[in-house]
Amino acid sequence: MPPSSPELRHVAIIMDGNGRWAQQQGLPRSAGHRAGLDAARNVIREAPKCGIGILSLFAFSSENWLRPRSEVKALLSLFSEALEREINTLIKNEIRITFIGNRSSFPRNLQNLMSEAERQSASGQQLVLLVVVGYGGRWDICQACRTLAKKAQAGLVAPEEIDEKNFEACLTTAGFGAPDLLIRTGGERRLSNFLLWDLAYSELYFSDTLWPDFTATHLQEALEDYRGRQRRFGRTPHQIEYRQGGE
Ligand code: FPP
Repeated sequence: MPPSSPELRHVAIIMDGNGRWAQQQGLPRSAGHRAGLDAARNVIREAPKCGIGILSLFAFSSENWLRPRSEVKALLSLFSEALEREINTLIKNEIRITFIGNRSSFPRNLQNLMSEAERQSASGQQLVLLVVVGYGGRWDICQACRTLAKKAQAGLVAPEEIDEKNFEACLTTAGFGAPDLLIRTGGERRLSNFLLWDLAYSELYFSDTLWPDFTATHLQEALEDYRGRQRRFGRTPHQIEYRQGGE
């Protein structure tokens, strides 16, 4: 049996390089984020055509709160503006938007916009767009631990019953499945606290392209690279090629 391409359902992206792109153009960092939003729009449009069912975009990490106040303010305004402007396009294109992360620190009006966009787009079937905001992988693991500890305290689960399955069910990403492919743009080769649990067996693809310059063609190149990979999840190449899982 010839080797076949691995399945592709969920793609996650660390959209890095907005600041450097702006600097190269002699523009303020906020202009880089604005250009980054255009790049995100193009990739969202392209994703369903490439067979992607879930697209996760890391838009604001828990550590991004440490950036200068003016940059945080510009990012939050951009999110609000984008949600207000794009919601109808999302609905029209059958895209279901969902936010993952700790929203409680966001301004109330932005929280309301997020909930409203989730509600209005809930029936979208073409693509699930997970916008990851105020998120850190360690935060998610800690909050899942807290949830399970409370359940154990209440006698709903015994400590020895805790396993990967019921732990995973307590993550904020529960139900979406692990990303098959993680793309990081901007030349850095690290995870930056993104989806730490979920990415355990994801394929990683690093691009030197700064995020605002990332186009549909770059996405296709990443997917082409992914298609040439063999995902073994700890098994041998022989087991994968001949699908003899029990050997
Ligand atoms: C990282 O680049 C990018 C961010 C922290 C913000 C990403 C936000 C967007 C692309 C716009 C919003 C998108 C959606 C989907 C709502 P950086 O600032 O760290 O760049 P640098 O490494 O060059 O400084």
